Amino acid sequence: MPIDIIPLKTEMQARSNHLRNQGKTIGFVPTMGYLHEGHLSLMRLAKSMADTLVVSIFVNPTQFGPGEDLGAYPRDFERDQSLCRKEGVDMLFYPTASQMYGPRFQTFIALEQLPLHLCGISRPAFFRGVATVVTKLFNIVKPNTAIFGQKDYQQLRVIRQLVQDLDLDIQITSGPTVRESDGLAMSSRNAYLSASQRPSALTLYQALCQTRNRIENGLTDANALIQSAVSLVLSFPETAVDYIAICDPDTLEDIQTVDRPAIMALAVKVGKTRLIDNMML
Ligand code: PAF
Repeated sequence: MPIDIIPLKTEMQARSNHLRNQGKTIGFVPTMGYLHEGHLSLMRLAKSMADTLVVSIFVNPTQFGPGEDLGAYPRDFERDQSLCRKEGVDMLFYPTASQMYGPRFQTFIALEQLPLHLCGISRPAFFRGVATVVTKLFNIVKPNTAIFGQKDYQQLRVIRQLVQDLDLDIQITSGPTVRESDGLAMSSRNAYLSASQRPSALTLYQALCQTRNRIENGLTDANALIQSAVSLVLSFPETAVDYIAICDPDTLEDIQTVDRPAIMALAVKVGKTRLIDNMML
Protein backbone atom coordinates (compact mmCIF):
# COMPACT_ATOMS: atom_id res chain seq x y z
CA MET A 1 0.00 0.00 0.00
CA PRO A 2 1.44 3.42 -0.90
CA ILE A 3 1.73 5.70 2.08
CA ASP A 4 -0.21 8.98 2.12
CA ILE A 5 2.28 11.83 2.33
CA ILE A 6 0.62 15.03 3.46
CA PRO A 7 2.63 18.26 3.15
CA LEU A 8 -0.17 20.72 3.93
CA LYS A 9 -1.49 21.34 7.42
CA THR A 10 -4.99 22.18 6.12
CA GLU A 11 -5.15 18.81 4.40
CA MET A 12 -3.89 17.00 7.49
CA GLN A 13 -6.53 18.76 9.61
CA ALA A 14 -9.26 17.85 7.11
CA ARG A 15 -8.16 14.18 7.05
CA SER A 16 -8.07 14.03 10.84
CA ASN A 17 -11.50 15.67 11.14
CA HIS A 18 -12.86 13.13 8.68
CA LEU A 19 -11.41 10.19 10.64
CA ARG A 20 -12.72 11.52 13.94
CA ASN A 21 -16.18 12.11 12.43
CA GLN A 22 -16.16 8.45 11.42
CA GLY A 23 -15.43 7.51 15.03
CA LYS A 24 -11.85 6.40 14.28
CA THR A 25 -9.07 7.02 16.81
CA ILE A 26 -5.72 8.55 15.79
CA GLY A 27 -2.36 7.48 17.21
CA PHE A 28 0.51 9.90 16.58
CA VAL A 29 4.31 9.67 16.64
CA PRO A 30 6.02 13.05 16.02
CA THR A 31 9.61 12.73 14.77
CA MET A 32 12.38 14.71 13.13
CA GLY A 33 13.04 11.83 10.72
CA TYR A 34 16.20 9.80 10.11
CA LEU A 35 14.21 7.03 11.71
CA HIS A 36 15.71 4.23 13.76
CA GLU A 37 14.44 1.26 15.72
CA GLY A 38 13.51 3.55 18.65
CA HIS A 39 11.04 5.46 16.45
CA LEU A 40 9.73 2.22 14.93
CA SER A 41 9.01 0.79 18.40
CA LEU A 42 6.95 3.94 19.19
CA MET A 43 5.04 3.47 15.92
CA ARG A 44 4.20 -0.14 16.85
CA LEU A 45 2.98 1.03 20.23
CA ALA A 46 0.81 3.75 18.66
CA LYS A 47 -0.58 1.27 16.14
CA SER A 48 -1.63 -1.08 18.94
CA MET A 49 -3.51 1.78 20.62
CA ALA A 50 -5.42 3.46 17.76
CA ASP A 51 -7.25 2.79 14.50
CA THR A 52 -5.06 5.08 12.39
CA LEU A 53 -1.35 5.75 12.71
CA VAL A 54 -0.02 9.20 11.77
CA VAL A 55 3.72 9.98 11.85
CA SER A 56 5.19 13.44 11.32
CA ILE A 57 8.64 14.19 10.01
CA PHE A 58 9.68 17.78 10.60
CA VAL A 59 13.11 19.08 11.59
CA ASN A 60 11.82 21.88 13.76
CA PRO A 61 14.01 25.01 13.46
CA THR A 62 12.69 26.67 16.62
CA GLN A 63 14.19 24.00 18.88
CA PHE A 64 17.74 24.54 17.59
CA GLY A 65 19.88 27.30 19.09
CA PRO A 66 22.50 29.37 17.25
CA GLY A 67 25.52 27.19 16.41
CA GLU A 68 23.58 23.94 16.87
CA ASP A 69 23.22 21.27 14.17
CA LEU A 70 19.99 22.38 12.38
CA GLY A 71 21.68 22.49 8.93
CA ALA A 72 23.63 19.27 9.48
CA TYR A 73 20.79 17.30 11.08
CA PRO A 74 20.68 13.92 9.24
CA ARG A 75 17.90 13.54 6.70
CA ASP A 76 16.87 10.64 4.43
CA PHE A 77 13.24 10.99 3.45
CA GLU A 78 13.23 8.09 0.95
CA ARG A 79 14.46 5.65 3.59
CA ASP A 80 12.12 7.09 6.26
CA GLN A 81 9.18 6.73 3.92
CA SER A 82 9.94 3.09 3.22
CA LEU A 83 10.38 2.33 6.94
CA CYS A 84 7.02 3.99 7.65
CA ARG A 85 5.40 1.92 4.92
CA LYS A 86 6.79 -1.29 6.47
CA GLU A 87 5.40 -0.29 9.87
CA GLY A 88 1.94 0.25 8.39
CA VAL A 89 1.88 4.03 8.90
CA ASP A 90 -1.36 5.35 7.38
CA MET A 91 -0.37 9.00 6.93
CA LEU A 92 2.94 10.80 6.96
CA PHE A 93 2.68 14.50 7.75
CA TYR A 94 5.72 16.10 6.12
CA PRO A 95 5.44 19.90 6.20
CA THR A 96 8.01 22.51 5.20
CA ALA A 97 9.26 25.08 7.70
CA SER A 98 7.28 27.84 5.94
CA GLN A 99 4.15 25.69 6.18
CA MET A 100 4.63 25.43 9.97
CA TYR A 101 5.89 28.95 10.67
CA GLY A 102 4.30 31.77 8.70
CA PRO A 103 6.14 35.06 8.10
CA ARG A 104 4.68 36.81 11.16
CA PHE A 105 4.81 33.81 13.50
CA GLN A 106 5.15 35.09 17.07
CA THR A 107 3.33 32.80 19.49
CA PHE A 108 5.33 30.36 21.62
CA ILE A 109 4.55 27.95 24.43
CA ALA A 110 7.08 28.24 27.26
CA LEU A 111 7.05 26.27 30.51
CA GLU A 112 8.30 28.08 33.59
CA GLN A 113 10.04 25.42 35.70
CA LEU A 114 10.92 22.18 33.89
CA PRO A 115 13.23 23.84 31.31
CA LEU A 116 15.36 25.33 34.10
CA HIS A 117 17.05 21.94 34.56
CA LEU A 118 19.19 19.42 32.63
CA CYS A 119 19.19 20.11 28.86
CA GLY A 120 17.37 23.42 29.31
CA ILE A 121 20.47 24.95 30.94
CA SER A 122 22.76 24.61 27.92
CA ARG A 123 19.91 24.72 25.34
CA PRO A 124 17.77 27.61 26.66
CA ALA A 125 15.42 27.83 23.64
CA PHE A 126 15.05 24.10 23.12
CA PHE A 127 11.96 23.30 25.18
CA ARG A 128 10.16 26.43 24.03
CA GLY A 129 10.65 25.19 20.47
CA VAL A 130 9.60 21.64 21.35
CA ALA A 131 6.53 22.71 23.34
CA THR A 132 5.47 25.07 20.55
CA VAL A 133 5.88 22.65 17.67
CA VAL A 134 4.30 19.73 19.55
CA THR A 135 1.27 21.87 20.45
CA LYS A 136 0.96 22.91 16.81
CA LEU A 137 1.32 19.30 15.64
CA PHE A 138 -1.37 18.26 18.13
CA ASN A 139 -3.69 20.93 16.70
CA ILE A 140 -2.97 19.79 13.15
CA VAL A 141 -3.00 15.99 13.59
CA LYS A 142 -5.68 15.97 16.34
CA PRO A 143 -4.51 12.67 17.85
CA ASN A 144 -6.32 10.76 20.57
CA THR A 145 -2.99 9.40 21.74
CA ALA A 146 0.61 10.45 21.13
CA ILE A 147 3.76 8.49 21.89
CA PHE A 148 7.14 9.84 23.03
CA GLY A 149 10.38 8.03 23.86
CA GLN A 150 11.73 7.83 27.40
CA LYS A 151 15.24 8.54 26.09
CA ASP A 152 14.18 12.20 25.87
CA TYR A 153 12.94 12.12 29.45
CA GLN A 154 12.84 15.88 30.03
CA GLN A 155 10.97 16.36 26.75
CA LEU A 156 8.46 13.72 27.85
CA ARG A 157 7.96 15.56 31.17
CA VAL A 158 7.52 18.86 29.33
CA ILE A 159 4.89 17.37 27.00
CA ARG A 160 2.97 15.71 29.83
CA GLN A 161 3.02 18.99 31.76
CA LEU A 162 1.79 21.10 28.85
CA VAL A 163 -0.99 18.61 28.09
CA GLN A 164 -2.07 18.85 31.73
CA ASP A 165 -1.66 22.63 32.04
CA LEU A 166 -3.44 23.44 28.75
CA ASP A 167 -6.18 20.80 29.24
CA LEU A 168 -5.39 19.09 25.95
CA ASP A 169 -7.57 16.02 25.48
CA ILE A 170 -4.70 13.76 24.37
CA GLN A 171 -3.35 10.67 26.05
CA ILE A 172 0.46 10.74 26.28
CA THR A 173 2.19 7.37 26.38
CA SER A 174 5.91 6.75 26.69
CA GLY A 175 7.93 4.03 24.99
CA PRO A 176 11.12 2.54 26.51
CA THR A 177 14.58 3.56 25.28
CA VAL A 178 15.78 1.20 22.56
CA ARG A 179 19.50 0.40 22.73
CA GLU A 180 22.08 -0.94 20.30
CA SER A 181 23.48 -4.36 21.29
CA ASP A 182 26.39 -2.60 23.06
CA GLY A 183 24.02 -0.47 25.15
CA LEU A 184 24.21 2.85 23.25
CA ALA A 185 20.77 4.49 23.27
CA MET A 186 19.46 4.78 19.73
CA SER A 187 19.45 8.33 18.38
CA SER A 188 19.50 9.92 14.94
CA ARG A 189 22.62 11.79 16.08
CA ASN A 190 24.54 8.49 16.51
CA ALA A 191 25.06 8.81 12.73
CA TYR A 192 27.61 11.57 13.49
CA LEU A 193 29.85 9.21 15.53
CA SER A 194 32.99 7.71 14.02
CA ALA A 195 33.98 4.11 14.85
CA SER A 196 36.78 5.37 17.08
CA GLN A 197 34.33 7.57 19.07
CA ARG A 198 32.01 4.66 19.81
CA PRO A 199 33.74 3.55 23.09
CA SER A 200 33.48 7.14 24.35
CA ALA A 201 29.77 7.26 23.40
CA LEU A 202 29.20 4.04 25.35
CA THR A 203 30.33 5.70 28.58
CA LEU A 204 26.88 7.30 28.99
CA TYR A 205 25.23 3.91 29.44
CA GLN A 206 28.19 2.61 31.44
CA ALA A 207 27.94 5.56 33.83
CA LEU A 208 24.22 4.87 34.32
CA CYS A 209 24.80 1.16 34.97
CA GLN A 210 27.69 1.91 37.34
CA THR A 211 25.47 4.29 39.32
CA ARG A 212 22.64 1.80 39.53
CA ASN A 213 25.09 -0.90 40.78
CA ARG A 214 26.52 1.43 43.42
CA ILE A 215 23.05 2.24 44.68
CA GLU A 216 22.26 -1.48 44.83
CA ASN A 217 25.41 -1.79 46.98
CA GLY A 218 24.09 0.79 49.42
CA LEU A 219 25.58 4.11 48.23
CA THR A 220 23.02 6.93 48.42
CA ASP A 221 25.05 10.15 48.28
CA ALA A 222 24.06 11.74 44.96
CA ASN A 223 27.15 13.95 44.80
CA ALA A 224 29.53 11.00 45.21
CA LEU A 225 27.60 8.99 42.61
CA ILE A 226 27.75 11.88 40.15
CA GLN A 227 31.47 12.44 40.71
CA SER A 228 32.24 8.76 39.91
CA ALA A 229 30.10 8.98 36.79
CA VAL A 230 31.91 12.16 35.67
CA SER A 231 35.31 10.48 36.25
CA LEU A 232 34.27 7.43 34.23
CA VAL A 233 33.05 9.53 31.28
CA LEU A 234 36.10 11.82 31.29
CA SER A 235 38.49 8.85 31.35
CA PHE A 236 37.56 8.27 27.67
CA PRO A 237 38.89 10.42 24.80
CA GLU A 238 36.97 13.32 23.21
CA THR A 239 34.35 13.47 25.99
CA ALA A 240 33.03 16.67 27.61
CA VAL A 241 30.30 16.54 30.24
CA ASP A 242 27.42 18.95 29.70
CA TYR A 243 25.68 17.67 32.83
CA ILE A 244 25.27 14.56 34.93
CA ALA A 245 22.43 14.92 37.42
CA ILE A 246 20.38 12.84 39.81
CA CYS A 247 16.98 14.38 40.17
CA ASP A 248 13.35 14.04 41.12
CA PRO A 249 11.52 12.34 38.23
CA ASP A 250 8.61 14.83 38.41
CA THR A 251 10.17 18.21 39.15
CA LEU A 252 13.65 17.43 37.75
CA GLU A 253 15.14 19.21 40.78
CA ASP A 254 18.44 17.80 42.05
CA ILE A 255 18.24 15.41 44.95
CA GLN A 256 20.98 14.91 47.53
CA THR A 257 20.22 11.39 48.77
CA VAL A 258 18.92 8.53 46.67
CA ASP A 259 16.45 7.22 49.24
CA ARG A 260 13.37 7.64 47.03
CA PRO A 261 12.56 7.30 43.32
CA ALA A 262 15.10 9.27 41.29
CA ILE A 263 16.37 9.53 37.78
CA MET A 264 19.94 9.93 36.60
CA ALA A 265 20.17 11.96 33.40
CA LEU A 266 23.26 12.96 31.48
CA ALA A 267 24.35 14.86 28.40
CA VAL A 268 27.86 14.31 27.10
CA LYS A 269 29.60 15.65 24.05
CA VAL A 270 31.71 13.11 22.16
CA GLY A 271 33.71 15.19 19.73
CA LYS A 272 31.06 17.51 18.30
CA THR A 273 28.15 15.11 18.92
CA ARG A 274 25.95 15.78 21.93
CA LEU A 275 24.39 12.60 23.33
CA ILE A 276 21.83 12.16 26.11
CA ASP A 277 20.64 9.18 28.14
CA ASN A 278 18.92 8.48 31.45
CA MET A 279 17.93 5.73 33.83
CA MET A 280 15.42 5.41 36.67
CA LEU A 281 17.34 4.61 39.85
O1 PAF B 1 11.99 14.17 19.82
C1 PAF B 1 11.90 14.73 18.70
O2 PAF B 1 12.21 14.12 17.67
C2 PAF B 1 11.44 16.17 18.59
O3 PAF B 1 11.89 16.92 19.68
C3 PAF B 1 9.92 16.31 18.42
C4 PAF B 1 9.16 15.77 19.60
C5 PAF B 1 9.50 15.59 17.14
C6 PAF B 1 9.55 17.80 18.26
O4 PAF B 1 10.21 18.38 17.19
